[in-house]
This record gives sequence, C-alpha cells and structure tokens, in this order.
Amino acid sequence: MLPPLGHSVGGRAPTTVIPGAEVLPSSWSPLSAGPELYGGIANLYNSSSQIWERVWGEHMHTGFYTGDKDPSIMTKEDHLDAQHEMMLQLFRLWDSVDLKLSESAASGGSIRVLDAGCGVGGSSRFLHRALSDIADSDGHRDLEIEVVGITLSQYQRDRATQLTAADDGIPSGSVTFQVANALDTKFPDEHFDCVWSLESGTVL
Ligand SMILES: C[S@@+](CC[C@H](N)C(=O)[O-])C[C@H]1O[C@@H](n2cnc3c(N)ncnc32)[C@H](O)[C@@H]1O
Repeated sequence: MLPPLGHSVGGRAPTTVIPGAEVLPSSWSPLSAGPELYGGIANLYNSSSQIWERVWGEHMHTGFYTGDKDPSIMTKEDHLDAQHEMMLQLFRLWDSVDLKLSESAASGGSIRVLDAGCGVGGSSRFLHRALSDIADSDGHRDLEIEVVGITLSQYQRDRATQLTAADDGIPSGSVTFQVANALDTKFPDEHFDCVWSLESGTVL
C-alpha cells in the first residue's frame, strides 16, 4: 500500500504520492529524469502516432465543442472541426501575437514561433497559416514567418516534415521540425517571439 501524502519512506526524502502512480522523491524534477523518461515518451509516440493520426487526424488534441450538436450523432468530420475550433479559440486568446506581428512588421523583420510538443505538426501548420493571414490582412505580406515544431519523437518529426512538404500553402523552409526536449533546447535565449504548447505542456 502507498504511504500517505508527504510520508517519508525508510528515512529518505519526503515523498509525493500520486494515486495509482509510483512514489516520487520530492527531489524529483523532470529535468533530472533523464533519458529513461524522455526515451519512454519518444517510444510511446514513435509507436502510437500512426494510430493517433488515423483516429484524430493531424491534430493530436481534443476539440472545442460548441454544444449545438448531439454528441451521439457526431461524425468524425464534426470532431475534426471541433479540433480546428479549439485552435481558433486559443489563437484568439493569444493577444501578444498581434503586438509582436506589428512590432516585427514595423522593423521589417520576421516573427519566430516555437511549437513546443508539436505532434505531427498540425498545430505548426495552422499557426503559420493563421499568422500569414493576419500579416496579409494588415498589409505586411513580406513579413517572414517561421514556425519551428519540436517533439521527442523521431517518427513525429519525420511525419510532420512529410505532411508539411505536401502542403502547398506553406512556403518551403518556413515550418520545420526537430527532435528536441522542450525543457532543454539548444536555442539561444530570446530566439522565439512566441511559444505555443497545446496538450504538451501538461506532459512536460
Ligand atoms: C498529445 S501530443 C500534442 C501534439 C500537438 N501539440 C498537437 O496539438 O497536435 C503531445 C506532444 O508533446 C510532445 N512532448 C512531450 N514531452 C515533450 C518534451 N519534454 N519535449 C518536447 N516535446 C514533448 C510529444 O512528443 C508529442 O508530440
């Protein structure tokens, strides 16, 4: 049986108990977890992403349901629409983007976005399209928009790259993917203007 919350085991550091999970010492942190944890997550997504994509499509996150349809008769298309609606709803909350866009456009520069935990890149492509639409409608067609998606899974990186290459709406090289740990990236400080994380922050 698990000891109660905060109970110390055998004189070791106090422990945190997550019901149904193993006992973690309070000194545990994701950064100290090392290759075992991250290798495990990578393997999970390497082996399951094909199934996720078949079921959920290119977005590996839940949908935003407006409640105007009976869930029992919803089609797969309805669920895919709800995922798209989730992106739209969150994107509208992202106030800082408008500001960054106009600052970058004013300085004739570019805007860089990190999609931390990008799955097969559905969100990264969405972000590029959404930002390009705003830039176009604000008269900043020449603003360079770059989205970099990172994932722990090599399979996802490769699949994201493949799906992006097949997307005519995305200029070559403007949405790219890397295998990297969001908690320990090699990007310099201040490299990105914005960071997006959807259903990945929860597992970081
Ligand atoms: C449920 S998927 C969400 C994918 C994507 N955000 C989307 O909305 O389609 C979780 C993603 O988080 C990534 N992930 C989990 N921990 C990570 C970490 N420490 N660094 C980078 N990516 C991580 C996984 O590789 C996977 O791509």
